[in-house]
Amino acid sequence: MTTTYWNRYALGAANAAPDDESAPSVRWTQYPSHGPGIELLGDPRSSLELGCGRGDAVAALAARGVDATGVDLSGTQCEQARRRWGHVAGARFEHADVLEFLGAADRTWDAIYSIWGAIWFLDPALVLPLVRKHLAPGGKLVFSHAPPVPGAYGIQGMYGAAFTADPLWVYRWSYEPDVWAELLRRNGFGNIHARVEAAPESGKLGTLIVEAERRPGPARVSPHG
Ligand SMILES: C[S@@+](CC[C@H](N)C(=O)[O-])C[C@H]1O[C@@H](n2cnc3c(N)ncnc32)[C@H](O)[C@@H]1O
Repeated sequence: MTTTYWNRYALGAANAAPDDESAPSVRWTQYPSHGPGIELLGDPRSSLELGCGRGDAVAALAARGVDATGVDLSGTQCEQARRRWGHVAGARFEHADVLEFLGAADRTWDAIYSIWGAIWFLDPALVLPLVRKHLAPGGKLVFSHAPPVPGAYGIQGMYGAAFTADPLWVYRWSYEPDVWAELLRRNGFGNIHARVEAAPESGKLGTLIVEAERRPGPARVSPHG
């Protein structure tokens, strides 16, 4: 069960980066204070983070008056997020799998985003239609993750436990920016800007960042449309 993997990941992340007292922020890259920030989300009244981890971005948005929700599969992450940011008015943390959460949701959000989070770990054929359905017209989808390993595109598998343990498989989906753009276009998104943001030092790994808007009209266009 991937929840086991993500709970273990949560404990490792907490040990690697203990709580600090600085103001929370929205950071898309793996490098502190590098790259774009909260402005990529526009000026939403409501937001939803897919795979919110310890909740910093949710807290940053809520502190600006946004009705901000984060959803995460890991109970450990949700506990940490609530302990750290539960006191911030407008910040909410939901313990759920993204597909189940969106499948049951009966509302829309102005912005849906994912920072190295759940979008990377879900089949785009399943998650993109759900995201579109739950974005307000003109609403923004923004996400970031690592660029693909050259030559290895689409579904990627890895073992999420020791090779002597019960097997646990974790999957993620990796595409070049132009492929993400085409996937989004086919799923009813426009104004797409997909690129690799360069690292602060040359030669280091960049960050794939994708921005898109929910287009009016039919959810899916034909591959030739
Ligand atoms: C690499 S962490 C990133 C966390 C956070 N966004 C950050 O920037 O620190 C990925 C997060 O996605 C969550 N996640 C993975 N698959 C998920 C799913 N299907 N539904 C909800 N959350 C998921 C994990 O529990 C984990 O907290």
